[in-house]
Amino acid sequence: MSSELLQRARDFERQYMGYADAERPAYHLTAPVGWMNDPNGFCYYKGYYHLFFQYHPYSTQWGPMHWGHARTKDFVTWEYLPAALAPDMPYDANGCFSGSAVEMPDGRHLLLYTGVNQTRRVDGVEEMLQSQCIAIGDGINYEKYEHNPVLDISDLPEGASEIDFRDPKIWREGDTYYAVISNRSSDGSGFILLYESEDAMHWHYDGVIDECKNLYGRMWECPDFFPLDEKQVLLVSPMEMIPTGLEFHAGYGTVALIGTYDRESHKFRREEVHAIDYGLDFYATQTMETPDGRRIMVAWMQNWATTRCETPGAHLYGAMTFPRELAVRDGRLIQNPVRELERYYTNHVQYRNVVIDRECNLNGIRGRVLDLTVSVKPSGNKVYRWFKLTVAQDGEHGAYICYHPDTGIVRIDRSRCGGRFDIVHFREFQVSSRGGEIKLRILLDGKLVELFVNDGEQAASFQLYGPDTAEAISFESRGCVVLNVDKYDLDLPAGGHGQIGSVC
Ligand code: FRU
Repeated sequence: MSSELLQRARDFERQYMGYADAERPAYHLTAPVGWMNDPNGFCYYKGYYHLFFQYHPYSTQWGPMHWGHARTKDFVTWEYLPAALAPDMPYDANGCFSGSAVEMPDGRHLLLYTGVNQTRRVDGVEEMLQSQCIAIGDGINYEKYEHNPVLDISDLPEGASEIDFRDPKIWREGDTYYAVISNRSSDGSGFILLYESEDAMHWHYDGVIDECKNLYGRMWECPDFFPLDEKQVLLVSPMEMIPTGLEFHAGYGTVALIGTYDRESHKFRREEVHAIDYGLDFYATQTMETPDGRRIMVAWMQNWATTRCETPGAHLYGAMTFPRELAVRDGRLIQNPVRELERYYTNHVQYRNVVIDRECNLNGIRGRVLDLTVSVKPSGNKVYRWFKLTVAQDGEHGAYICYHPDTGIVRIDRSRCGGRFDIVHFREFQVSSRGGEIKLRILLDGKLVELFVNDGEQAASFQLYGPDTAEAISFESRGCVVLNVDKYDLDLPAGGHGQIGSVC
């Protein structure tokens, strides 16, 4: 049954999503209309990959959170489904915050999300109480459970916060459901709680998976926890990070903690800790497992620090990253765009062993919707000083990626991309040294850039602000480099996304 609030959101998106079509990237998912943040409920269900998201259809700013909904068969072309959840119950009246989804043994689809309910303390200060709630449905319509919330302050261990208790990630192992949930411990910094249940309605607290101890930011949001390549991975999105070398920047970050997990004792032992993405616009990851056993991750390709940087008159704010296949290799999380993208390849332009020592363009290498790989190595014995790849370029604009082999530092810079906001426009990060060799793969989709370095060892995502007509791509170096270049355009159906209402 859909409430008046949910029906209003569904009517609104059906009526207005067409206005946003001209702003939509070609193969990255955006909201039908309005605001999008975290990915939610990413899962495979009855022949489709479903992706829900934090959603405020009515404006390009964050507001009372709904869950928007889309599905796909290949992660590239998406079909919008009607909004799935609206904040229409007393326990979620201030928002249906982030959560996740799982198929129940009887074939129904279960969403576990955070309900937010604002209350006023005796001293007059307002607090957002957070609890975990479920909704069960068929892949299109969802019914909130009559005994919600299923996890509330009575389920918290001593010292845990009653206010910061959110973003449950659920999974099933045999007959048991598990969920990791973010919270704050008594030192004010984040910790991740583990719960288990036989029916997803009655939960039992198992313990703390890992805790921040004020070392990697403070509150840890959007946890995810899964086995991969003989290791166990915990992903979190910390708030209030303090910079650490070039690994972590200040503010909102994303962190991969890789280690081992003892299922019996529920003990996670972390071995490696590093950033998930080194770019400017990346937060709140969520993963799922495909039927063929791949672990796929998406994230919000935006950042809380720049949420007021809207384009005037725009109908959309926020996008998802293109889904990434994950692996663990040598203690690192490896990320590469899902292989389904290759099905859409067209107009392959290839260069082999091109030697350059100044700025140049290569015939046929230009555009704003493409998949570009550039392999760089020194020419002869002498290592070059730097190599720079510029995309989205015209006389005034250009976003560049520059590699200095002597320091091993990659710099991304979007300061000349038409952005009028006084925000961070560049970042630097350290890559592994390979004697001057580096491989850069760029997914470019209108204003969205995702960079993958050395076959997914590192990733950096950022958004551009300039005009989409800046289509040139240039290559430049100080000292001689040898380049191999592969560019593919993408043969996508017009608009990329399906139309809402097709399955109503
Ligand atoms: C992370 C987050 C979550 C919360 C949601 C609210 O970006 O702050 O912790 O559930 O966004 O929209």
